[in-house]
Amino acid sequence: MPLRNLVRPVNKSIRILPPGPVFLSAALDPVYCAPFHQIMQESRIDQRTKTQRAIALEEQFGAHNYHPLPVVLDSGKGVFVWDVEGKRYYDFLSAYSAVNQGHCHPRLVKVMQEQAARMTLTSRAFYNSVLGEYAQVLCETFGYEKMLPMNTGAEAVETALKMARKWGYEKKGIPKDRAKIIVCEGNFHGRTISIVSMSTDPDSQGGFGPFTPGFEVIPYDDLAALEKALADPNVCAFLVEPIQGEKGVFTPCGGLHPARYRFMQGEERALHRGRDPNGDRANRPSFVQRG
Ligand SMILES: Cc1ncc(COP(=O)(O)O)c(C=O)c1O
Repeated sequence: MPLRNLVRPVNKSIRILPPGPVFLSAALDPVYCAPFHQIMQESRIDQRTKTQRAIALEEQFGAHNYHPLPVVLDSGKGVFVWDVEGKRYYDFLSAYSAVNQGHCHPRLVKVMQEQAARMTLTSRAFYNSVLGEYAQVLCETFGYEKMLPMNTGAEAVETALKMARKWGYEKKGIPKDRAKIIVCEGNFHGRTISIVSMSTDPDSQGGFGPFTPGFEVIPYDDLAALEKALADPNVCAFLVEPIQGEKGVFTPCGGLHPARYRFMQGEERALHRGRDPNGDRANRPSFVQRG
């Protein structure tokens, strides 16, 4: 069934863009996004292109929790994507690196098709014929004892927060409800209430309080501040992005060299959201989250 049959007809009073090309170069400049939405309100629905129609539908029926660029993507192959007008682009964003392997990689398409035809889903109420094998490959590849697959980065971070707190209470002996997790200014770890509670971005926090307690914010890439914060016996974890991305792209000075984090090991402190630094397993973080 065509998608349009699943969607209620759009009210004629919806106003959309006038016909005419949308240039990605202009679209990429956020300054042009606001006029674009203004223009959308000044034209009639029957004049629209495929791009305008798709945008109008999303604008009307989709929650406004994102501000996409006005390009409507429809298909992809390798490094390329095509919009609904047939225009081809290089996909430099790769779904925030979720598609680093390229679009529609034939081997991945094949195994996904085979799996979809074999079984749709198992709950964790049962064992699964391939989960153990997958877990073994991941653990042996990255040199960890256990792994836990999650659906989103935010869930992975939430799970790490819970693990760290529980470790803090059960192993480190932190008094009940006093566990503290150190995070960095400018962090981005997702959008759940607990995660935005540790954010320093007003856009992430605005209107969402009250927030989860138990986080201390220090400057990014400041070992002296980190050492000072770690002196608190109630600290159970340090959560950090090896390269910050959301506030700008910040790489720690000197890279994420193991020596910079070695001093944390005496107390088995957990370095979350990290990368196995230089493949050095002796100095790696206790937890690593990978997307
Ligand atoms: C560093 C980092 N952590 C966590 C997340 C949250 O991931 P998700 O959007 O899958 O919940 C993101 C998403 O962009 C991220 O970049």
